[in-house]
Parts: sequence; structure tokens; C-alpha cells
Amino acid sequence: MKFVVGNWKMNQNLEDIKKFFMGIDKLKFDLKCEAWIAPQAVHIPILKDLAFTLGKVKIGAQNCSEHDNGAFTGEVSASTLADMGVEFVIIGHSERRTIYKETDATINLKIKKALEKGLTVIFCIGETLTEREAGKTFDVLKTQITEGLKGIAISDSLLVAYEPVWAIGTGKTATPEQAEEAHAFVRAELKKLWGPDGAQIPILYGGSVKPSNFAELLMKPNIDGGLVGGASLKAEDFSGLCIAASQNL
Ligand code: PGA
Repeated sequence: MKFVVGNWKMNQNLEDIKKFFMGIDKLKFDLKCEAWIAPQAVHIPILKDLAFTLGKVKIGAQNCSEHDNGAFTGEVSASTLADMGVEFVIIGHSERRTIYKETDATINLKIKKALEKGLTVIFCIGETLTEREAGKTFDVLKTQITEGLKGIAISDSLLVAYEPVWAIGTGKTATPEQAEEAHAFVRAELKKLWGPDGAQIPILYGGSVKPSNFAELLMKPNIDGGLVGGASLKAEDFSGLCIAASQNL
């Protein structure tokens, strides 16, 4: 099964959400992939209701706190997400790393907390353009993996997303070869960390994925799906991604 995970970021108002689900409902395609969406946190219950009527789409969060509870104004705890029926959480997205200054150490704590509370985690990693041009891609990925997953036991509830920062929201997708090279490296690192079971962890590609380039990316042996921002906002595009993933089992 391939994965299509929509990261809606700070987008979609109520009207957009209704249109999206009406659109998905009308398209009635045969879904043979994992289809997940992470909306803004306050919209989670609404999406859970709408997704429930469709019966297939899993709903998740874009972030959670590393703390259990307490005086952390503006934060959302992993246990609250779990209470609300949230199934997964994206942790370590490059926008959280750069805009909100999340470090590998904070990300490590967040992953631990989310797994402890029973959430599935999509752990994001990726290099900047400067790092790639300086030939440091593999070093950066290695550090992010080692530090981010430090002290964490292998879990069925973990996915990794490789998202080169230079490809996010830029329209500049990594070529399938560039993505595959990084994914193969990440897989090897996960295997080093956890043995053969580590190599089974799904690795998603993210960065300007669209219905028109997704099929080609999915043909690569180490690409298990996509974490998609812009092209996950409209029903036609999201279904286009799901159709591509459903045809590439
Ligand atoms: P994009 O975003 O598909 O708009 O490039 C991907 C992401 O940030 O997860």
C-alpha cells in the first residue's frame, strides 16, 4: 500500500473543507492506498466527521507538544490529540524546524511523547539547498535521523518523510533519481539503527508532489508515498494523487 498524506498547513477555511469533501465524494474512485490528511488542529473534529462518512481517510495533526500538560500556552498535547481520535501527527516538518526553531532534540522528545500516547508519527527530515550544494545531504540526513530517533525503539507506528527543503512549496520537485538516492540512504540508516525491521519503515517523499509527477516518483523502489502540501488542498488534485498511488501498489 502506498501513502498519500495531505499536509494542509495553515490553509483551508470551513467553506474550502466542505467543498473538498463534496468533491471527493463525487469522484468516487476506488481507493487502494492509505489516504491521510492533517488539517489545522481546530478543524480536526470536523474533518473526522466528514472523513468518517467517507469511511477511509485518516485525520492527523501537524504538530504536538513534547510536554504532557501544564503552562504551555498555545500548545496541543499528544494525549489530547489521542483523546480526540487523532491517528497520526507530523513531527519535525522543515517549517517547524526553521520558523519555530525546533531542534533535533525537541523533535526527539516530541516523537517519544507522540508514540507513548499511541499516535502514529510521520518524522520529517531533509536538507536545505545550501547543504545540498555543499555536498552535505547525507551528513544532514544522518544527523537528523540519529538525533531525532535517539533512544526510540522500532515501532510500527513510525513513518519517515524525506522532504528536501528546496523542493517544498517551490514547484521544484526532486527528480525521481535524486529522491530515490536519498530514500535508499535513509532506508540504509534505518536498517543500521534497527536491523531488517528498520528497513520496513515506510519512507514518504515530500516537496512539490503533484498528480503529474507522483506516479514517476512512486515507481522508485524506496519511495512508499508522498507528503503533499499544495496539491492536497483541492479534491481533484488529492484524488489524482490517490489514483496514482492506487495504481502503484
Ligand atoms: P508542497 O509541501 O507539496 O507544497 O511542496 C510539502 C510539505 O511541506 O509537506
